[in-house]
Amino acid sequence: MVVDSEVVLDVEAFRAEFPALRQQVRGFPLAYLDNAATTQKPRRVLEAISRFYERDNANVHRGVHELSVRATKLYHEARATVASFLGAERPEEIVFLRGCTEAINLLAHSLGSRLRPGDEIVLSELEHHSNIVPWQMACERTGAKIRVAPIHDDGTLDLEAYRGLLSERTKIVSILHVSNALGTINPIREIAEAAHAAGATVIVDGAQAAPHLPIGVRALGADFYAFSGHKVYGPTGIGALYGRYELLEELPPFLGGGDMIARVTFEGTTYAKPPARFEAGTPNISGAVGLAEAIRFVQEIGLERIGRWEETLTKLAHEALGDIPGLTIHGPKDRKAGVVSFSLRGAHPHDIGTILDTQGVAIRAGHHCAQPLMARLGVPATARASFGLYNTPEEVQALARGLEEVRRVLGL
Ligand SMILES: Cc1ncc(COP(=O)(O)O)c(C=O)c1O
Repeated sequence: MVVDSEVVLDVEAFRAEFPALRQQVRGFPLAYLDNAATTQKPRRVLEAISRFYERDNANVHRGVHELSVRATKLYHEARATVASFLGAERPEEIVFLRGCTEAINLLAHSLGSRLRPGDEIVLSELEHHSNIVPWQMACERTGAKIRVAPIHDDGTLDLEAYRGLLSERTKIVSILHVSNALGTINPIREIAEAAHAAGATVIVDGAQAAPHLPIGVRALGADFYAFSGHKVYGPTGIGALYGRYELLEELPPFLGGGDMIARVTFEGTTYAKPPARFEAGTPNISGAVGLAEAIRFVQEIGLERIGRWEETLTKLAHEALGDIPGLTIHGPKDRKAGVVSFSLRGAHPHDIGTILDTQGVAIRAGHHCAQPLMARLGVPATARASFGLYNTPEEVQALARGLEEVRRVLGL
């Protein structure tokens, strides 16, 4: 495949900003193809965090001294940066949390507290465990039920079957935007339209979409949208939940403690307005500062361009892997985001991952926290290469060469 020069990013310039990419692993230049698990961090993110601790570190809110004022300002600015990244109407629609998992747990707890026996929550077969287990726990507490929208054999959602599940019993539709295991991009706008017509609230797990696609929560029709900073070149331990303000205002809190209250007496407590209501305790201030810097980094490059580059790499990988005897690529061929999930006949995915590691190629092998999806595909696990903005066609070739080595070592 000839790479269209219009699509090419100045990858070498970007790579130079990522210290972790400049290393050899087992004598080979590192080919880091595990970006769906977590991304590497550009130096400017590391520097923003370090600058915060060297200069501005203090607790936020309530403080009158200079450092606390600065830290509070940075924290609020970070919220506004996330709001613009997601296309929210106002910064108060953004709640800082540990990440996508915590965001869905918050919703399963707070929104879930309104569920009644007989109510239904619609998920899909593509979901990550973090968008299954919290809802199962909510169902145990309330007597609500989970309904599962099936996928087609190519890993795309069966929209008709999904629509068929919706009824006046459907209270929540919680669905991922992009599949971490297959790369499938879900048509969120259509999904949300149908859900709203049934009177349901729409939650989107954007963990894998945020690094690859421009996101406009209003245009998508998402009532809530969650993502994790570490998958968007930001630090671990920080992520955000977008919620339409009117909806956040109606929600009861998840965790109790400092900062989330209006007034406390031993007789009772009134709660702060969102987003403070959902941010009990000292927040991850340096994380928010680092995440804001990561967002500025991807915004400067442009998610449109990043997405097109990753699409190019994905196509190259389909071509390079397609001819390998016994290799099956799972999921859709196109309209997918940066993920190539595959099986090789006669090779366990863990052996594939281990042998690739001897070549300096980092991929993931396993169920990708999507065991129901693996069951649907009829495999216990897959090997998964996932691309980020800094990956190169040479790294795709390194993966293909590494797979030849896998076949040689395993005598396939
Ligand atoms: C689709 C999807 N949803 C949710 C999560 C959970 O993200 P985190 O572990 O950062 O909370 C992941 C992480 O891999 C994911 O891929």
